[in-house]
Amino acid sequence: MTQNSYAIELERVRLSYSGEAVIETASCTVRKNAVTAVVGPSGSGKSTLLRTLCRMNDRVPGFQVEGSVRVLGRDIHDPALNVYELRKRVGMVFQKPCVFPKSIEENVIFGLKFHDSRTGRDFSEKSEQALRDAFLWDEVKNRLGDPAHTLSQGQQQRLAMARTLAVDPEILLMDEPTSALDPKSSKAIEDLILSLKDRHTIVLVTHNVDQAERVADDLICVDDKTVCHKPCQRP
Ligand SMILES: Nc1ncnc2c1ncn2[C@@H]1O[C@H](COP(=O)(O)OP(=O)(O)O)[C@@H](O)[C@H]1O
Ligand SMILES: [Mg+2]
Repeated sequence: MTQNSYAIELERVRLSYSGEAVIETASCTVRKNAVTAVVGPSGSGKSTLLRTLCRMNDRVPGFQVEGSVRVLGRDIHDPALNVYELRKRVGMVFQKPCVFPKSIEENVIFGLKFHDSRTGRDFSEKSEQALRDAFLWDEVKNRLGDPAHTLSQGQQQRLAMARTLAVDPEILLMDEPTSALDPKSSKAIEDLILSLKDRHTIVLVTHNVDQAERVADDLICVDDKTVCHKPCQRP
């Protein structure tokens, strides 16, 4: 495979629900090992765009993608592409912390178990590493068997991050991951994002322009059914 500095490449992409375009045309790129913030008004199609990148919208009735979407050098609509493999390489974190009604540790290893179904595997080392990577280990190391819902919202969001990080995705898609959090928890997630970009490519949807300025290297604006790059001013 040729060396490509872009993790994601969109060319004349049109996204529609039942024929109605949400995004009429998107041609843009996302650099590897950088944080790209996606900003734009509510309802402009930011979540739709993000979900398209890991084929999360496949089963939405009437949803259609036209044009070329390349992720990690591959056309994501290539019939030979394994969608589960794609989702292992492209992880997603949602706006509302998504935790399962299981223990803290079970939540972290959920994806690992899914992708490696060999019985008897011990995932505790990987689980610890993922919790450390998500800046959560010190807060939960003595209560790994507790139900995940006993954690605060901010901790639950970092737990969702740990679960995503455990399978070591190359790209992390985050859809407004701090909008349900208090300022302290938001800061923890922002610090985490900055710490991850050496090893991961991050696409962060945010309605918070200050947050975009704090963490993003690149900026993509979604508005009026188009998607464009904007210069990003770092403080
Ligand atoms: N599953 C769906 N079916 C039909 N329309 C949808 C669906 N999801 C989102 N939309 C519409 O697509 C547009 C963009 O939504 P969304 O991508 O959620 O925007 P944003 O994340 O920027 O707020 C909105 O008009 C929304 O109503
Ligand atoms: Mg959204």
